[in-house]
Amino acid sequence: MPRVGKNPLRSRSAPGRNRAGAAGRRSPARLDAARQRSRAPSAPGLVLGVYTSEKDDGAAQFTSAGDAFDRLVSGKLRALLCGPPLKKGKTRIFHGLHQDFPSVVVVGLGKKNAGINEQENWNEGKENIRTAVAVGCRQIQDLEIPCVEVDPCGDAQAAAEGAVLGLHEYNELKQKKKPVVSPQLHGSAESQAWQKGVIYAEGQNLARYLMEAPANYITPIKFAEHIEQKLRTFSNVKVHIRPESWITTQEMGAFLSVAKGSAEPPIFLEIHYLGGAITNDSPLVFVGKGVTFDSGGISLKPSLGMDAMRADMGGAATVCSTIVTAAALNLPLNIIGLAPLCENMPSGKANKPGDVVRAKNGKTIQVDNTDAEGRLLLADALCYAHNFNARAIVNAATLTGAMDVALGSAATGVFTNSSWLWTHLYEASILTGDRVWRMPLFEHYTKQVTDCPLADVSNIGKYSRAGGACTAAAFLKEFVTASHWAHLDIAGVMSNKDEVPYLRKGMAGRPTRTLVEFAARLSQDSHNAK
Ligand code: BES
Ligand code: ZN
Ligand code: ZN
Repeated sequence: MPRVGKNPLRSRSAPGRNRAGAAGRRSPARLDAARQRSRAPSAPGLVLGVYTSEKDDGAAQFTSAGDAFDRLVSGKLRALLCGPPLKKGKTRIFHGLHQDFPSVVVVGLGKKNAGINEQENWNEGKENIRTAVAVGCRQIQDLEIPCVEVDPCGDAQAAAEGAVLGLHEYNELKQKKKPVVSPQLHGSAESQAWQKGVIYAEGQNLARYLMEAPANYITPIKFAEHIEQKLRTFSNVKVHIRPESWITTQEMGAFLSVAKGSAEPPIFLEIHYLGGAITNDSPLVFVGKGVTFDSGGISLKPSLGMDAMRADMGGAATVCSTIVTAAALNLPLNIIGLAPLCENMPSGKANKPGDVVRAKNGKTIQVDNTDAEGRLLLADALCYAHNFNARAIVNAATLTGAMDVALGSAATGVFTNSSWLWTHLYEASILTGDRVWRMPLFEHYTKQVTDCPLADVSNIGKYSRAGGACTAAAFLKEFVTASHWAHLDIAGVMSNKDEVPYLRKGMAGRPTRTLVEFAARLSQDSHNAK
């Protein structure tokens, strides 16, 4: 849904009230835009891309939409843009050029033939479009214009992603909200690609919404109900919200040991999307860590920054949003989503350092640090994932601070026993720009978790913090027998400051689009290919 305002909670406050409220502080540009609008009240804003000219003649290098608009205004746009070229992501605003588009934002796209950049492992052309469109749409939003038409810039999917991701903001709980802006494709060509981009971006925005929301709003049951509600309209989707009693009968002792520290009951969310031609086609199984708040438990975290641990369900949010998106795209494959959901809290019933718990596969685990709780949930969920004869099992988790230390927010760390799986994830990420980087699953790390005084395996590595993301992955591997498994540590990409220019500051919902693209590619890959 391209409309930012369709959300039922959000629509309670009238957007018009915000606009009127902001009138007292209007800048000259906003007043100009408002004056233009009063002549054509329903006229949209327009965002046009312009390439950075490779020649020195100062002539703007328009996209085809830019060219067409310039012809419409008898070359006035070209004349206004003469002089130093607009740098990548920089904008200029023009008012009153044409009555149908009273405000036009022109934004720099960088060089014209940008494509795959081998150093950066992404498609630079697509990234440039996402960034330029996001910047342009936000300018229109600052001008308080409720609708914007967007130049497809030669790649309508990337343009739609830039618009829908760039405008997203969590302001559910604020009385004063940013004006609602609805992005639309400028022109009629490429409308399918535009729509695909809208769906991909909305998938990521759903994950951002769930991650950003406070932990007292998104409890395990609220998370499950939100996803169930998003999937209600699809007849080929079944959602099971499993209660604590079910988790107990499944003998998920590791998951339950974390959950019992909290007053909030745990949930095991199980989603079946049947998009494949044959109902019993082997599914792709996604598993997501769903810790709706991670205080650390008895191994309590420092209070500074602890609020960010409301997003410790980012794995569950990204995999469930991926399935919602796959259903919206009607992807022809079967997908199962599994999300163990609970809080990690300190209490009289909480895990204590040194406790030993038993996972679903019978392995015993010494809980040496109660803050390494994600792997306890995942151990049981991964065991359960083996019930479905999966084509591949892919789990996502905000698992370790060490992952953030290793790669920062540049890429998701992927630990996998399958080069086939790795290739699909990697190729998907080049297109989406939400990158992945392969990490090791060496026996070297396994020894550091299986050398354990009281149990089969310890929940931390014996050399404290060294290789923390790798020892966590080695721990998970103890609960996997499938030959195509990947663990995605998304702790480093959990939030955005300003690193990804088309995402605002806040929880990032990464790498949802990569997972969607990966599922789309798998749905085209023959079963024999693995
Ligand atoms: N949820 C955290 C990891 C995390 C940290 C995610 C920062 C996002 C940002 C996880 O449960 C955790 O606390 N891990 C510990 C493991 C350690 C005790 C071995 C960590 O990373 O410090
Ligand atoms: Zn933790
Ligand atoms: Zn955690």
